Amino acid sequence: MPNFNYKRRQFIQYATLGALTAAIPGLSFAKGQEGNRTPNPSFKADVEIALDAQTADVPILPGPHTHVFKYIGKLLKGPSSTLKELPGYLGPILNFERGQKVRIYFNNQLPEPCITHWHGMHVPQPMDGHPMYAISRGEQYLYEFEVTNPAGTNWYHAHTHELTAPQVYQGLAGLITVSDEFERKLDLPSGEFDLPLIIQDRSFSSSNQLRYILGMHQRMRGFLGDVILANGQKDYTIPVKTRAYRLRILNGSNARIYKLGWSDGTPITAIGTDGGLLERPQDLPYVMLAPAERIELWIDFSGRKPGSDVTLQSLAYGTTSHGGDAMRGGMRRGMGGGMGMMGTAFGQDGEITIAKFQITEHISDSPKLPDTLVPMSRLTLQNVTHPDKVVPIAIGMRHMSFQLNGRTFDMYDYTEAEQIPVNTIQRIKIFHHNPGMSGGMRRGGRGGGMGMMMSVPHPIHLHGQQFQILSRTQVHQDNGYDTVKHGFINSGWKDTVLVMPGEEIEIIKPFNDFKGLFLYHCHNLEHEDMGMMRNFFVS
Ligand code: C2O
Ligand code: CU
Ligand code: CU
Repeated sequence: MPNFNYKRRQFIQYATLGALTAAIPGLSFAKGQEGNRTPNPSFKADVEIALDAQTADVPILPGPHTHVFKYIGKLLKGPSSTLKELPGYLGPILNFERGQKVRIYFNNQLPEPCITHWHGMHVPQPMDGHPMYAISRGEQYLYEFEVTNPAGTNWYHAHTHELTAPQVYQGLAGLITVSDEFERKLDLPSGEFDLPLIIQDRSFSSSNQLRYILGMHQRMRGFLGDVILANGQKDYTIPVKTRAYRLRILNGSNARIYKLGWSDGTPITAIGTDGGLLERPQDLPYVMLAPAERIELWIDFSGRKPGSDVTLQSLAYGTTSHGGDAMRGGMRRGMGGGMGMMGTAFGQDGEITIAKFQITEHISDSPKLPDTLVPMSRLTLQNVTHPDKVVPIAIGMRHMSFQLNGRTFDMYDYTEAEQIPVNTIQRIKIFHHNPGMSGGMRRGGRGGGMGMMMSVPHPIHLHGQQFQILSRTQVHQDNGYDTVKHGFINSGWKDTVLVMPGEEIEIIKPFNDFKGLFLYHCHNLEHEDMGMMRNFFVS
């Protein structure tokens, strides 16, 4: 692993904390910094879990074991189906029911600070894993929350200040499923026919150790590994029977964006997005899946021959490769030979195999895909509390790092525009914005290269309640857009939305129930760690 130079920066951050905290009216972060350390006796938990983050050595590739960070779970109370182990480095799958009260004792056994976030779950601010609550080795953080999310697929991962990317990369992630009564009525494939699929890319040294090299180029683009792991395994093959399956896919990669499609041209049938099931199934030729996004697929292997197989692929696409090439060209022209070292192997654009489904057994009964799934009310401008007021999320760049609304992350900081009244529904516009940039760079004589360099896709994630997509507009022509544009689902509940170069996206998001600081950030984890993250102050 590289030597992270975060410690010094972290010290500087902590040193300025006192001053910043004092500047926030009406919110006491004296308690905030402590977070929740002792059980609330009036919180009657249905489920109790001990979750430890620790180092481990696990077999991934043939040969030496790989040193990883790993969540180890232990069920203390609740249904035995609550925890499901996966082999390898991934944390256990946490299977929750809507309405359950969950208490999680999170123990940090790592030689560095850590905190855990329940991505997609609607929980109170002290339970959300804000980096301000990071605990040191040997310390314990106590999470207590009620599961209010509808049935769907969420996940949990480290969310430590400036360490999220390397900690997730080293293994700190796991899946969360939620089930509810609406879902049960649908009789979707369950048990062995309900398959998790966590997709991640990694890079290994010759002794099978994780490699995480971050030069300038990798920082700007995000880390891309050259080995695809599915559920933590390489060359992942799943034996299946001739019937329908439910496939819960999470892109748990740091930066890689997949364009998922079936190798034999079978259309993608989506039944769920980040925030739960769709109103009705939707067919697409392929689906784009950016880091942190989830998609639930229906795939029916009926009629296939035992012995045959079909693979889930990431298909070739253009946008990033154009951006990437221009970036490399621009960098080389503008900044001299030093940049020539940037690794280009295994770019975003090529076709990659994700997992192979091997038909092993013929069975004759298979459930039918329902025409409708769950009731869902479309949010429109009529639902927005102040339809004329648009909350901006401007994606920009300065000093070789990405920003949101002109600023980088600062633990407790928020601006006036980032204040949201609680129990409101907001219209939010996410767009690319770089006023100072193009002019300055054009004068500097490297306009083209730097301009293209900013045109990387950003998966923008907002903590708290799930949102809906109001509109997606291409405001600037981008060469590769045609190769991805049929892969977006705009009809479901989302917590992460991929904003392509040249694209502007409006969303409608409720901010109900909980006050406090809630993060919004790019889920390209390298971008997040470089500060492409901000707080909303809900009050
Ligand atoms: Cu998946 Cu703020 O994170
Ligand atoms: Cu999140
Ligand atoms: Cu980004």
